[in-house]
Amino acid sequence: MNRTETHVGTFPISRLRRTRMTAALRSMVRETELSKNDFIYPLFVVPGKKVKREVSSMANVYQMSVDEIVRECVAVKSMGIPAVILFGIPEAKDEVGSGAYDEHGIVQQAVRAIKKEVPELVVVTDVCLCEYTSHGHCGIVRGDEIVNDESIALLAREALTHAQAGADIIAPSDMFDGRVKAIRTILDENKFQNIPIMSYAAKYASGFYGPFREAAESTPKFGDRRSHQMDPANANEAMREVAQDIQEGADIVMVKPAMPYLDILYRVKQQFGLPTAAYNVSGEYSMVKAAAKNGWIDGERVMMEMLTGIKRAGADMILTYFAKEAAQYLDRQR
Ligand code: PBG
Repeated sequence: MNRTETHVGTFPISRLRRTRMTAALRSMVRETELSKNDFIYPLFVVPGKKVKREVSSMANVYQMSVDEIVRECVAVKSMGIPAVILFGIPEAKDEVGSGAYDEHGIVQQAVRAIKKEVPELVVVTDVCLCEYTSHGHCGIVRGDEIVNDESIALLAREALTHAQAGADIIAPSDMFDGRVKAIRTILDENKFQNIPIMSYAAKYASGFYGPFREAAESTPKFGDRRSHQMDPANANEAMREVAQDIQEGADIVMVKPAMPYLDILYRVKQQFGLPTAAYNVSGEYSMVKAAAKNGWIDGERVMMEMLTGIKRAGADMILTYFAKEAAQYLDRQR
């Protein structure tokens, strides 16, 4: 018999509604409480000055130039959100994604500027090539194959330039084999042994990334990401992915997307007990925004329910486009 069964009496001795009768009682028995400390806010950096362009598929999400990103980071920090994650859209793309590992690349510039202005804000950088390659794939393409080993060497170089610029956490999102080890090795060789790796450990080949690809201009020109990102039908395989990343040196493991993969999130947290992140991705955000705009759902209520559900399932941190809105909501509740 499990604990739940032993502790439940029979009606009418037991009435589970008793502790739900008032707001005060409900707050006393509440098991999961969201906090602003849980949030990591994604930002998209573009070249130029004074650029702030809304992403058409993502209400209130903007592509911003470095100056605007810095202003945004000041605001984010003052709202009590501890961290941002940066995605870069380079001036020019090529076959090998050179912009990704250019020490003067767009993300590297943004990190330097942010760390100068708001040093306490935790800056996470997404490490991938898809925003930087002309074909939109996450690595080097030979024939019709997205090759693994050559690509991870470039991802490692990208990670190193991010760390050199001042990034606080490196977050590889490519899903190639061996990338965490390659990144850990190059960071350690260059005295960045204390920079943590947050690996996108169980990242699925998902239709929910649609709006992000508009924001990051990273839609593949041909083919798809199914040869490296995971099949949505698999759960045991996700445990192997996470185990491998931990062996290779991941400090924080991520499950992505969040909502349709709460079972994975739960298992990862239960089985490994590492700090665990969930990425509440662009499609999850845009669906709520679109439905709320149409008056079909109460957007704020659904936002809080989603984020609470993700935390309840096991997330210690949530990467979410809702971060600012949810922080404002939490402030109003106090
Ligand atoms: C790859 C990357 C993607 C996302 C984060 N990092 C897109 C992809 O794998 O195609 C998606 C995030 C989102 O949908 O919000 N650099």
